[in-house]
Amino acid sequence: MHTTDARGEAASTAQTIASVIGGRTLGDAPGGRTESVNPARADETVAEVLLGDAGTFVAACRAARGAQGEWAAVPAPIRSQIIKKIGRIVERNKEALARLVTREIGKPYTEALGEVQEIVDTCDFFTGEGRRLYGQTVPSEMPDKQLFTFRMPVGVAAIITAGNFPVAVPSWYLIPALTCGNTVVWKPAEYSPAIGDALAKLFQAGGLPDGVLNVVQCEGQAAFEGLENALDEALVDKVGFTGSSEVGRKIGELCGRHLQSPCLELGGKNPLVVMPDADLDLAVEGALFSGFGTAGQRCTSLGTAIVHESVHDDFLSRLTKRVEEARVGDPAADDVLYGPMLSERFMDRFVDTLGMIEDHHTVHGSTGIGRITSDNPREGFVGDPEAGFFCHPTLVSGVKVDDEIFNTETFGPLVGIAKFSDFDEAVELSNAHGYGLSAAIYTRDAANALRFREGNRAGMLSVNNSTSGAEAHLPFGGNGKSGNGSRLSGIWVIDQFTRWQSMNWDYAGKLQKAQMDVADLPADLDFTLPD
Ligand code: UN1
Repeated sequence: MHTTDARGEAASTAQTIASVIGGRTLGDAPGGRTESVNPARADETVAEVLLGDAGTFVAACRAARGAQGEWAAVPAPIRSQIIKKIGRIVERNKEALARLVTREIGKPYTEALGEVQEIVDTCDFFTGEGRRLYGQTVPSEMPDKQLFTFRMPVGVAAIITAGNFPVAVPSWYLIPALTCGNTVVWKPAEYSPAIGDALAKLFQAGGLPDGVLNVVQCEGQAAFEGLENALDEALVDKVGFTGSSEVGRKIGELCGRHLQSPCLELGGKNPLVVMPDADLDLAVEGALFSGFGTAGQRCTSLGTAIVHESVHDDFLSRLTKRVEEARVGDPAADDVLYGPMLSERFMDRFVDTLGMIEDHHTVHGSTGIGRITSDNPREGFVGDPEAGFFCHPTLVSGVKVDDEIFNTETFGPLVGIAKFSDFDEAVELSNAHGYGLSAAIYTRDAANALRFREGNRAGMLSVNNSTSGAEAHLPFGGNGKSGNGSRLSGIWVIDQFTRWQSMNWDYAGKLQKAQMDVADLPADLDFTLPD
């Protein structure tokens, strides 16, 4: 269905979205009604949403609990056949889903296509994993006894995700959780409800039984209260959360009280070190993509470029030129570096962080800072800046280790530049903010790269590549303020969604006591070789 808007252009009519529990779409709105808008054209409503409340979240957990036993009883290779079909269905809908990502959160279309591809890649990986999920046979210390290990599903997984990667990141949780025999309650971000609903429909089309994947559309606070109640009622066995370090801490505390260790994927202040021997153009390209792609709203976005004093001025002027020349604006247009902020709230928060710019800093990269408007224009802007929530790209040089801007995730199109004089100082600066998600070094010297890997605390290191752009089958996750050491993706995420169960099987026909009824073969421990 289409309507014609004020500019005479066709716009899709807003759809109504609601939570889906046990295969049933709910018709009430105990959490109120809201709408999501296109952040590039705020007069365009993408979806009207019937919000659930804490009780809705608990009801979803109950439905997931009810469906879990039967789902776990489906043989893992059959479960992964469903994952295979989901992958094919997502592939067939790649452009439609990417268009919706562009429309609801403003991610440039080419990046949105890449994001959808990440779901397909993850499905392909887990299609095989259902035929593995290996356990081990282990030798016993006694005869007529055998030892085994099995991977058990954890149970019900409650997954709460951000909207900056509204389909790829959820798929990193959902696909392995389902493959491993868990049922899921998923809460998409408040500002990407239509995308969440579309992804769930694609999963459902793959043949998931009712109750295996439940989607709750609600506010963050309602989800938190619902989670607290569901944990009290022992309805949730594993929590997965991608979002801010601040909320991650609260979720970690809550889970800790229930003796659970959540999978936490939190913020970052990702450094990019430029050594004197670096290929400067390559480093500039990496800084541009990781600093400003997705408008700097990736958890892997570049925070501070840490540049050797001998190449600092050259790096800064080359990066400044690229940032000044970059096309910013309409995310549906070709070749834009980035589009709008995810929503008005993200724009307001980012504009607030610009207050961290101090007198000893110098700003570069655009014709202004903050929101792009007709009074504060960006040269070369693509489209109408006032129609949406667009911000100037901002480079801040002169950043020092104690500055607030050095130590705070700004989650927007802002990159700090700091200077260093020796390698140890670069390593120290790369860790000093306390985050530990991703870090990059540009150098032609293998020793620098390997020493940096050893000295930096991040979960993900890049050599001559940007801080963003993780492949879908390498462990993804952080340390320090970026997470609790849990890892998503590849074989590593399986440890999040399964528990090891060991079994010993004694067929001796008598009680054999471990450590006590164990053979001791004689040895001459005093033996020494003759001089
Ligand atoms: C995130 O921002 O939460 O590696 C995930 C990257 C993306 C994923 C980022 N593939 O930058």
